[in-house]
Amino acid sequence: MKPLRTIRNPGTRLVSAFVLACGLSHGLAGLAAEAAKPADQPWIAPARAARKPNPVAVDANSITQGRALFTMACEPCHGPSGKGDGPAAPSLERKPGNLTDPKMWEQSDGALFWKIGEGKNPMPVFQEVLSEEQRWQVVNYVRTLAPQNKTIDTTKGTTP
Ligand code: HEC
Repeated sequence: MKPLRTIRNPGTRLVSAFVLACGLSHGLAGLAAEAAKPADQPWIAPARAARKPNPVAVDANSITQGRALFTMACEPCHGPSGKGDGPAAPSLERKPGNLTDPKMWEQSDGALFWKIGEGKNPMPVFQEVLSEEQRWQVVNYVRTLAPQNKTIDTTKGTTP
């Protein structure tokens, strides 16, 4: 796959291997656990985590870094544009979120950061694979995937 070869930073290889391994094990577990699948429920970050401010400036540098990490670690499931149509998506027991939905702006940066760190089966846990700074960079990039709905106040999560 193209993204695995185009990344220059050697540290990122580890992440690729990790993501592939997760994809495989979850794929198998998914087959076995088909009958025991829990009902779909919205995934909500704890309020305290959601209030955490983003310490990484939204600029060309952090977005470029975030895009490279996304291509390698997220694209297999979430797809190149974040719609949830990556090559691994059809084999997952749950559909990856649609990161291009303007509703993404109803969640704070802290909430997205928390979700990326914690993961939720079949989405891997990224807090030990990506540094804090890398996870904020990914948040900054993910923000570019969805058009911002101006009527949404991102600090409160409600429409005024
Ligand atoms: C193995 C596949 C897989 C990989 C790799 C993956 N995700 Fe996910 N992701 C999912 C699935 C499945 C969900 C839906 C989880 C749920 O709602 O139960 C999800 C949900 C999310 C959500 C929540 C969307 C919402 O509506 O709140 C975000 C944000 C997200 N992923 C970002 C990322 C980022 C960023 C990466 C890379 C660092 C990543 N994901 C890597 C499968 C994956």
